[in-house]
Amino acid sequence: MERRPLLAGNWKMNLDHLEAIQVVQQLVYHLEAEDYDASELVVCPAHTALRSIQTLIEGDRLRIGLGAQDCHWEDGGAYTGEVSAPMLAKLKVAYVICGHSERRQHFGESDEVVNRKVKAVRRHEMTPILCVGETLEQREAGQAEDIVVGQLRGSLAGVGITASSELVVAYEPVWAIGTGRTASAADANEMCGVVRRTVGELYGAEIAEGLRVQYGGSVKPGNIVELMGRPEIDGALVGGASLDPEDFAVICRHHRL
Ligand code: 13P
Repeated sequence: MERRPLLAGNWKMNLDHLEAIQVVQQLVYHLEAEDYDASELVVCPAHTALRSIQTLIEGDRLRIGLGAQDCHWEDGGAYTGEVSAPMLAKLKVAYVICGHSERRQHFGESDEVVNRKVKAVRRHEMTPILCVGETLEQREAGQAEDIVVGQLRGSLAGVGITASSELVVAYEPVWAIGTGRTASAADANEMCGVVRRTVGELYGAEIAEGLRVQYGGSVKPGNIVELMGRPEIDGALVGGASLDPEDFAVICRHHRL
């Protein structure tokens, strides 16, 4: 089955709304129609830039999707500082990153919390980009596969998925994020295969076959081609390199490099 690659920029806590607009404008300047045909392209700005980027995408009819980096699990209520899934849906957000390792690490998000967030995103008909991945310690102890399977099973418990388009999983080994250290394409491919197999156990072969599994962790113009050449890798969740519109454009042009 042909899976259309999904290339998403996770801008993390970078770019105010004016800078974000500039980055998108410069990115599209470097892209051709064939790039949008080859892959689905998404940017995930900070919450404060979502409205500006939504307006830019709609106003200029850009073929770029909008993603958010996180949301709360409740639809509303006394949760000072939080943003809910219905608020994001109203901004035409299509994807919401759930369970990024930085949220697990710095904000104590457990699989149970991630599970509630995934459910909130699905309730409002957006697609979670569910992040999983092991730490260096866990990898060296030979636990990478068990950790990733456990995160998937915990984060997806009780989540009804009836089509491949309703879920994206990003395999992001924690030791490769922001470190300049990329997993080898072979290792990344193997772990993305573990993700697909586990999703198959949960939702059946057909959904697993159509599922897009991204790799994330120091994806750069110099390694995108090799990563995308692997059969289990259907795209990338790009941090640092997505802040530079020229670098991100090269990544988006991977199919013609
Ligand atoms: P870097 O590409 O900066 O390593 O970040 C990866 C990441 O965490 C994407 O979500």
